[in-house]
Amino acid sequence: MNQKKTGRFIAKMRKEQNLTQRGLADILGVSDKTVSKWECGNGMPELSHMQPICSILNISLNELFSGEKLNDTDYKKKAEENMMALIQEAEKMKKNIVGGNVLGYVDNIEMDVCETHKTNTEFWSTIGSEFLGATALPSWGGFFPSEDRLHLLGNLSGKKVLEIGCGNGRSLKYAADMGAVDLWGLDISESQIDRTRNFLEAQNIHARLVCSPMENECGLPTDYFDVVYSVYGIGWTTQLTKTFRHVYSYLKKGGIFVFGWSHPIHKCVSVENGRLIFSNSYFNEEWYRAGMGSKEIMLSNRMLGTYINALADSGFVIEKLAEETDREKALAADHDFGRKALMLPTVFVLRARK
Ligand SMILES: C[S@@+](CC[C@H](N)C(=O)[O-])C[C@H]1O[C@@H](n2cnc3c(N)ncnc32)[C@H](O)[C@@H]1O
Repeated sequence: MNQKKTGRFIAKMRKEQNLTQRGLADILGVSDKTVSKWECGNGMPELSHMQPICSILNISLNELFSGEKLNDTDYKKKAEENMMALIQEAEKMKKNIVGGNVLGYVDNIEMDVCETHKTNTEFWSTIGSEFLGATALPSWGGFFPSEDRLHLLGNLSGKKVLEIGCGNGRSLKYAADMGAVDLWGLDISESQIDRTRNFLEAQNIHARLVCSPMENECGLPTDYFDVVYSVYGIGWTTQLTKTFRHVYSYLKKGGIFVFGWSHPIHKCVSVENGRLIFSNSYFNEEWYRAGMGSKEIMLSNRMLGTYINALADSGFVIEKLAEETDREKALAADHDFGRKALMLPTVFVLRARK
């Protein structure tokens, strides 16, 4: 699709209808500057204006996109070309965001549990660990206020705790520092489990570590834990409700489950030239495969309601949904991610009780 060609074509057809830019603008309810912008090829008309422009100028949509009058032979060929160009345009507009990273490319996929586990385990066993640090307690990630300030986990002193997706063990150390006495960690990646073990042993901290996908039965004790938590772990599950039902079974009656993940609104909005742009649909929960550094990940952006409803379906009582930005930290950051965090939450934390 060639904007300049379409612009020249709009101008030509407008003149054939004896309309000025102002005349066309008035019929469409836009300013003459907008018409001039289209005709100079500096932007395409919005979707809502395309059909009315075509009927005023007596042309078809296919001709508008082609920027010329079409005879019967060319019509089908041009329609095919325009269709492809529109699909490619829409793909370019889509951006997927994980944490502070805009992903290299994004392909929608049919989710396959084994393939997803294999791809994500490979990522976390290799370069994924370079992304850790900002996802360990007391940080819940992004510009979310510190756990030391919000106390979403409550008092951990003397508590039995389990971390889902324990990564390199930094958050388990935090739980130990806060007085937790019985520490457990679960992670899909053997390398991550080794990192956790080595890190905690070096600190003289004992933890029981289980290598398993969080979606599976993995022999963790039931009706046992006071607190189950996860920092940027839960979103990796391929089966949300199944995972929450497992977590529910591990907790004692009255025990709490607290987890944080990238806020879904953060994942739909990108910053372009200092402005926030909706670059993906909030409703889009399709699974995708995306490039992250030299590896790939497989994820889906779930809506906030999907997490809340899955908790309720698993028997939890929801106590708190925290969506906040530490404004001081975001102001001090002086980059796009910080500016975005001043306008919308980049992380959410949910707290639920059995
Ligand atoms: C962002 S990291 C968590 C970091 C951790 N909170 C910390 O403090 O170091 C996500 C972790 O989830 C693990 N993970 C990914 N998919 C998983 C799954 N299906 N089941 C269990 N763990 C998974 C990864 O191996 C990775 O260690």
